[in-house]
Amino acid sequence: MTHKNVPRHIAIIMDGNGRWARARGLPRVEGHRRGVESIRNLVTALSKQEDVKYLTLYAFSRENWKRPAKEVGFLMRLLRYFCRRELKMMMKNSVRFTTIGALSSLPKVVREEVRKTRQATQDNDGFTMCLAINYGGRDEIVRAARRVARRAASGDIQARSINERLFARHLQTAGMPDPDLLIRTAGEMRLSNFLLWEASYAELWFTNVLWPDFRMEHLNKAIRAYSSRTRKYGAVEDTR
Ligand code: FPP
Repeated sequence: MTHKNVPRHIAIIMDGNGRWARARGLPRVEGHRRGVESIRNLVTALSKQEDVKYLTLYAFSRENWKRPAKEVGFLMRLLRYFCRRELKMMMKNSVRFTTIGALSSLPKVVREEVRKTRQATQDNDGFTMCLAINYGGRDEIVRAARRVARRAASGDIQARSINERLFARHLQTAGMPDPDLLIRTAGEMRLSNFLLWEASYAELWFTNVLWPDFRMEHLNKAIRAYSSRTRKYGAVEDTR
């Protein structure tokens, strides 16, 4: 069997918007606005190719509420605006828009816009873009544990039948393959509570490029690095 060593699912921690803006004497929020351009650029390009089928982007973490209220408000408006403005692009390129994270804490107008975009694109089958909004990896695992516990308590499943596969079906990412490649921009080398369960075997790739400057040339560099690595999943490479 020939197997092309390309990632099917890429996850990105988009970092460096603030630094990008500061370097230009602009307000931080301008960095976020330009960060949206990077998203549009990648999604449009990826939806036209056949290898990468899922892109998960860390747009807003549970910790991001600690930022100044003005910045949080801006990010919320940007999210709403993004959903509204990019719907056309998503429909044109058959992009399915999904989310992970606790949407219930978002302002109602934002939640509604996100829900509408998800619904409008649910039958698009070309490419899946998943936005992590008010997301935390530990929170996601705890919520899954709660669901599994409820099912066990009601007698729907036996405690001894709980295994990794069953558990993963209760995560918000159920139905998506695990990310093969996880990228973080702006020189930081942390996971910051992103996809803790799902990224267990992901290849990690870091770059100093700030998110608003990140383009397909950088993504292609990451993909090439991924392709040249050998994933062993704890086994050995050559068993002879
Ligand atoms: C980190 O930059 C990035 C974020 C807080 C979230 C990413 C958000 C966007 C790309 C825009 C919003 C997205 C959508 C889909 C509307 P930072 O501010 O932490 O940068 P810094 O570390 O340089 O300060």
